[in-house]
Order: sequence, then structure tokens, then C-alpha cells
Amino acid sequence: MRKNIVAGNWKMNLDYEQGVSLFSEIVNMVKDEVVGSQEVVVCSPAIHLSSIAKLSSGVNNVHIGAQNIHEAESGAYTGEISASQVKSVGANHVILGHSERRAFFKETDALLAEKVNAALKHQLTPIFCIGETKEERESGRFFDVIKTQLEAGLFHLSATDFERVVLAYEPVWAIGTGLTASPEQAQEVHAFIRKTVAEQYGEAIAEDTSILYGGSCNPSNAQNLFSQKDIDGGLIGGASLKSRDFLDIAKVFNA
Ligand code: PGA
Repeated sequence: MRKNIVAGNWKMNLDYEQGVSLFSEIVNMVKDEVVGSQEVVVCSPAIHLSSIAKLSSGVNNVHIGAQNIHEAESGAYTGEISASQVKSVGANHVILGHSERRAFFKETDALLAEKVNAALKHQLTPIFCIGETKEERESGRFFDVIKTQLEAGLFHLSATDFERVVLAYEPVWAIGTGLTASPEQAQEVHAFIRKTVAEQYGEAIAEDTSILYGGSCNPSNAQNLFSQKDIDGGLIGGASLKSRDFLDIAKVFNA
């Protein structure tokens, strides 16, 4: 059975103390308020990871992750962080292929495929992001764009490895803009993603794949988005920086 997941992406926000304090609030609220089997994942800047790992250890349903890794094992890559380093502090997820990394850091599908391999090798769950730009949506090419991102970034994986990946559909035009995809627009793409996965790996694996929606998701629209058949949770940017908002989104799955 596929999991419902609400993952926060803090991006490059919060200093060390602010991050630790927000995470403590989140952990306490999850303990008090989350009653379902949904998973809550917080992807913080790397500097917070080892401290928040201690706060989350032993807490059911709360996991932590990084926002990027380098594809190599180790070595002379000044400023970079490897999958094994992230794993060694107690994180178990990593966001890969976020549109900000694709756009600002020129991460290609081929590079992302290598990062996915590095993550899986070190038992990190990739939260693999795909999605079209505004221009690609308006020109009607978005299904092709998404299919290519899946094929080039992930479809080299064996079925067993693919089962360890979480997908996130994030239309670039909806990220940080306040413009959310409508539940119907998002569902249409999520169904397409699941169908594309089924063609490659079969129905059973496609049914078990968690596909999250991301892009201006907030407590007011989460319920309508998550009630769609193929939307299994969210990847939350801005609203994950407020414990109350983030928890209200996670609690949609309490019902
Ligand atoms: P947003 O960001 O919720 O602030 O739109 C989502 C993301 O970039 O993952």
C-alpha cells in the first residue's frame, strides 16, 4: 500500500537556532496531533540535520532529509555533501531534481540519475521532483516534459530500486507564486505519472508509488488536493516554515 507523506522543504531559510526550534515544535505537534499513518518528513538545510536527527529519533512518523547530495562517493568537491555523509547523521530522505536546482544549478536529467543512484546506494529515499514550466504548460508540452524527466532521471532503475523512490509533481509555475494547480489539473498529471510508471514497471508498482504534489500548497487547499485519487501527499515550501500551517497540512490525513 502506498504511503501518504507530507514533506517540508525549508530551502535556504532559518539559522541554526530557528531551525532547531521550529523542528522541536513540529515534533511535539506531530506527537500530539497526528493520529494516522501518514509520514512527516522535514528536509532542512544540511547544517540542521545532525541536531534535528536527535530530536526526531524514536518519534514515530517523523523523518528528516537533505535537499541535495553530490553524486560522488567522496573526494575533492569543495562545498559539497555526499549521500553517505547525509545518511551518517540519521537522515533518510533527500530531495532530488527540485526545479530550483535544475534551473539555478543547471542539474540535468543525466546528473540527477547519478544522484538517485548515490542516494539509493546509501539507503536514502529520493523525493524526486518533476514538473513543467509555465511556458511548457501553456504550449501544451507538459506531458512530454514530465515523461522525459521520469525516463531520463529514474527509468534506468530496477523495479526493486524504483520502489524506494517517492515522486513529487511540482509545476514550476506554482512554486512560491501563490498560484496552485487546481485539484483537477494536479490530478490529471498525477494520473499521467502513475500510468507512465505502470507502463515501465507494471500496475502493482505504480499503485504502490507515492506521488506528492508541490507548489503553493497550504492549509486552505491541501484537503482538496489530497482528496484526489492519485495525490498521496505534498511537498511543502513556504507553509512548512510555520509549524501550525505545516501540521494542519499533515493532519489532512488524520481523517
Ligand atoms: P512552495 O514550494 O510550497 O513555497 O510553493 C514548494 C517547493 O518548492 O517544494
